[in-house]
Amino acid sequence: MFARVVECGQDGALVGTETAARYAEMADGLMIQYRGFLSHLKTLDVGNRYLEIGPGPGVLTTAVAREKPDAHITGIEMSPDMVSVAGEYIERAGMTDRIRFLVGDAGNSDDFASLEQFDLIYSTFSLHHWEDPKQVIQNLMSVLADGGLIYIHDLRRAWWLYWVPSSGGFWKSIRAAYVSRELREMLHSLGIERYEIRSVFPFMHSILIWK
Ligand SMILES: C[S@@+](CC[C@H](N)C(=O)[O-])C[C@H]1O[C@@H](n2cnc3c(N)ncnc32)[C@H](O)[C@@H]1O
Repeated sequence: MFARVVECGQDGALVGTETAARYAEMADGLMIQYRGFLSHLKTLDVGNRYLEIGPGPGVLTTAVAREKPDAHITGIEMSPDMVSVAGEYIERAGMTDRIRFLVGDAGNSDDFASLEQFDLIYSTFSLHHWEDPKQVIQNLMSVLADGGLIYIHDLRRAWWLYWVPSSGGFWKSIRAAYVSRELREMLHSLGIERYEIRSVFPFMHSILIWK
């Protein structure tokens, strides 16, 4: 009745340089969507080695770098087109000394093999695209430093949006998103105990995992 639906476009990388450039423009004009995440980030007491998963065109990444002037951020992004658009965006923002993007699949443990440890691993609006979220979380745990934090922020499958008869990207994303119960089950099956799932008004939630 209310099952998760993964349609084309919600099943992995966002491809095409035009799509990537359009996404960058949209994200730039819609900074409000990151406001809650950024204001919470300000209050976090963690070290300065950050890893971002599925950063897309780097719009949030540069905002994070501005907010946290000591942070060094690595981004793992599956779409080479996004990484290429991000490269230009980060250069225009003058942040190339503190941000580096790698093309990689967060679900592939090989892509983490040569990475160092991170104090903060975060991700926004990407979780519902991950083909194997349990594997991604395991990969993230493998590069999370002791005392570090994983912070995943995404849409929630809100029933009152689920039923809107629209095939637009946002609505597809809502139908592909998880409900909190599914996230809890996922974390329990991984044996993760130190976590919290916070519902964020009006149709988002955040997972925080401590090590
Ligand atoms: C909706 S965009 C969100 C971009 C950015 N985080 C933001 O909040 O604006 C989702 C991004 O996750 C990326 N992605 C999806 N699955 C991924 C995976 N397994 N590993 C790395 N990136 C992934 C997509 O290519 C896309 O750029």
